[in-house]
Amino acid sequence: MTTWNLSGMQRHLLICNGSTCMGAGGEEITQSIRQEIKRQQLDPLIHTSRTRCNGRCKDKCVVIDYPKGNWYSVPNTEIAKQIVNEAVKPEHYIYKVEEAQLQQINTERFRGVSKNTDKRKSNQVKKKAILFVGHGSKFEQGNEEVRQFIQQLKRRIKDSLLVETCFLEFARPNIEEGIEICVEKGADEVYVIPIILLHAGHSKLHIPAEIEHAKEHFPDVTFTYGQTIGIHEAIIDILLHRLSEVGFDLTAKHEEIAILCIARGGSDPGANSDFYKITRLLWEKLDVKIVESAFMGVTKPSVPEGIERCLKLGAKKVIVLPYFLFSGILMNRMQKMTADFSDKHSDVSFELAKYFGYHSKLQDVLLERMQQALDGTSTGLQDLENFRKYAQEHGYEHHHHH
Ligand code: FES
Repeated sequence: MTTWNLSGMQRHLLICNGSTCMGAGGEEITQSIRQEIKRQQLDPLIHTSRTRCNGRCKDKCVVIDYPKGNWYSVPNTEIAKQIVNEAVKPEHYIYKVEEAQLQQINTERFRGVSKNTDKRKSNQVKKKAILFVGHGSKFEQGNEEVRQFIQQLKRRIKDSLLVETCFLEFARPNIEEGIEICVEKGADEVYVIPIILLHAGHSKLHIPAEIEHAKEHFPDVTFTYGQTIGIHEAIIDILLHRLSEVGFDLTAKHEEIAILCIARGGSDPGANSDFYKITRLLWEKLDVKIVESAFMGVTKPSVPEGIERCLKLGAKKVIVLPYFLFSGILMNRMQKMTADFSDKHSDVSFELAKYFGYHSKLQDVLLERMQQALDGTSTGLQDLENFRKYAQEHGYEHHHHH
């Protein structure tokens, strides 16, 4: 093991090697700082360490220079070298500990700060933020729909609550950035509410992991986790409404019309079977012989298999009913699939119903999930607990989904 001789050391550079900084060139920056130190033979004077995330991911890459306590945002290797030479321009500073201490001493003197200040602060009303988490799509229109949906929902949320939107993957801000936005806007309490249909990997692991990660960086902020949309009466109502929009009579008896409900499909058996429960609840509300379930991917039955079943059961018309929140690549694919089936089976008619989108009942569910989180009755708290246990047993490396 190497034992450093620290006697001549004058500076210690902490180079962030957290996942965001590494994704923004952290390795090159680490190397160029070390090479510059070597080139100038400053090794005995400047020590460097790689660190994990420093909680300022938006300033990536972060480098901290002690004992001065200068925090830098380092966008490229040029600035990295300037750090070694202490020639960094002011725009690349994030924070200067020495200066901040001086400023604080001066303002305290000026104001004659008393112990009451702290007391006053703790008596202040806590600022609450609701952070909605959409899945995110490579298809930007889907992301825009999520943002619009939250804009509309905001009208039904009281003004004292800060409302922000973020995404799990494929869109910005991501969850980490969303949490930072809430904290920067002054939130003391952040309520993270997933806009996710079924409880599976994203809601069981990925979002809880982000919340646990954020807790480390914002120890003064409390985080509460909401629960997924799940099996909810309002969702059945939305499906019924979407059926009626394509001319399906909800009160009549249907022998030859099949309803093929389509979900995304995943590897979580619980989530897949929850979808079956939903389609069964839909069947209970109708007088229709054929209600089938199929998945776009990962699991079976596939959409062509679902169609085949409907046809074998004697369907003359198939209504493809998406169990999808917003538009996206899969909705586009479903549209194409429906058109292809229509071409292939000229004796059967095919109709594609609309996805959930801006349905007011979807707003109702999200508002209910938000209220549960605010009241402390959300099952999301148990999810966080489960995640902690899971991470202890199996390990869980925090990473970003974008
Ligand atoms: S990864 Fe570097 S500050 Fe978060």
